[in-house]
Amino acid sequence: MKGLRILLVDDEPLMRLSMVDALETIGHDVEASASGTEGIDAIRQRPFDLVITDLRLPGADGLTVLTAAKKQSPHTEVMVITAHGSVETAVGAMKLGAFDYITKPFQMDELLLIVERVGRVVTLRRENQDLKAVLEDKFSFGGILGANNQMRAVLEKIKLVAGTDSTTLILGESGTGKELVANAIHQNSARSHYPLIKVSCAALPETLLEAELFGHEKGAFTGAVRQRRGRFELAHRGTLFLDEIGEISPVVQVKLLRVLQERQFERVGGNDRIDVDVRLVCATQKDLRKEVSQGRFREDLFYRLNVVHVVIPPLRQRQEDIMIIAEHVLKMCSSKMNKMVKGFSTAARELFLRYSFPGNVRELENMVERAVALGRDREAIQPSDLCGFQSCPFTGGLPQESCGFCSEGLTGQKREERPLTSLATAREQFEREYIVSVLERVEGSRTTASKILGLSRKTLWEKCKRYGIPSARDESGGEEE
Ligand SMILES: Nc1ncnc2c1ncn2[C@@H]1O[C@H](COP(=O)(O)OP(=O)(O)OP(=O)(O)O)[C@@H](O)[C@H]1O
Ligand SMILES: [Mg+2]
Repeated sequence: MKGLRILLVDDEPLMRLSMVDALETIGHDVEASASGTEGIDAIRQRPFDLVITDLRLPGADGLTVLTAAKKQSPHTEVMVITAHGSVETAVGAMKLGAFDYITKPFQMDELLLIVERVGRVVTLRRENQDLKAVLEDKFSFGGILGANNQMRAVLEKIKLVAGTDSTTLILGESGTGKELVANAIHQNSARSHYPLIKVSCAALPETLLEAELFGHEKGAFTGAVRQRRGRFELAHRGTLFLDEIGEISPVVQVKLLRVLQERQFERVGGNDRIDVDVRLVCATQKDLRKEVSQGRFREDLFYRLNVVHVVIPPLRQRQEDIMIIAEHVLKMCSSKMNKMVKGFSTAARELFLRYSFPGNVRELENMVERAVALGRDREAIQPSDLCGFQSCPFTGGLPQESCGFCSEGLTGQKREERPLTSLATAREQFEREYIVSVLERVEGSRTTASKILGLSRKTLWEKCKRYGIPSARDESGGEEE
């Protein structure tokens, strides 16, 4: 913990001196004031992480000091010192936002313990701010984190696309952040003051989806007791996000094509033509070109939707982003759940880098959230916190089938289905598979792969040769012999 900037307000010179002494000895930067008024002056002049104040003071009392400190900066923590028997005032102080209180007479150790707790909160907050600043600055747009080159290109494209009115198609596997991208496009567009309306096309059967999108007139069908405006109308001047567009039926495809061509439509059961000014953003996990070639999706609609497309790569192809997102989620969850978990153990990091994340960022988020909630180690997330199964062989314990780490995640082959061999052969087999998978995921860069594997480039080259792994690309020039 770095030293805290502390203001101490107490009118008893001896108490003040001994507290200043104790706090400075353990590395804090302490300023002392002998009255409430003097304390409030100090608070106005420079920021403090912690204000320790006696409640009964000449001039302004401790509660006034507390209020002034909180008003100046809500992040300043305040600890109050109360006289024996005046717990009610202490409770009042807590209600005004004090971090904690201590009753006189007290041992210096008791005071230092509270200060240490404040220190942990302040450190976490500083780290959060640092991380946030770094991420916001460099690798983030609209809450989408990404340091990987492909992801940075995606972020740049989103920035450009947001400024236009073009229909946009977002493609990516489940959990890659398609909805997040749609949000970012809308929030950063000129339409951001108007609604962003979302429709999940897979959630509704054909007829309901039609009515949902275009609205209906009174009596259009059984149950249509009054006229209802559809999502296109609700999104007027804003953005309509059609999620899972690959699921819409041929009938709805035709209707949608017409709106895109004419910017007009009729409500179900109605004749009035309705004009809308809507920007369309669509998303799908499906390979829409394939759907077109197999006759399931209209080609003309595909071209109308695919004016601009954003392809989000799966998480396993952007190794650099795994820890950035994991750290971010960890910070968010631990402050939300009021935990002090600081990071991930080396073994946990290694597991992350070996895992293929079929559920992409959503899976990573859930994994980290569960680890923070249930983790046993207060300081760092351990491999055993990451697996939902207590007896996972990778994260500790006996073999178990259905964990991402212990079954499909690593090799696509369940461990018990493998041929029985000697340990040496199994080890070599694993080593070969693992080197191949790392090389694939770093797009063949032997320098990066050797860093991840903790090997020198020469050793990696030797291993590749021994296992017959094709020569890899290397940034620093040529193939090694
Ligand atoms: N690059 C990223 N940075 C930070 N958080 C992300 C990122 N990508 C996705 N997330 C988070 O992951 C979760 C899943 O994202 P989202 O719902 O946008 O995915 P999706 O592609 O729409 O998934 P699905 O196909 O299952 O609907 C969300 O909580 C989102 O905030
Ligand atoms: Mg989604």
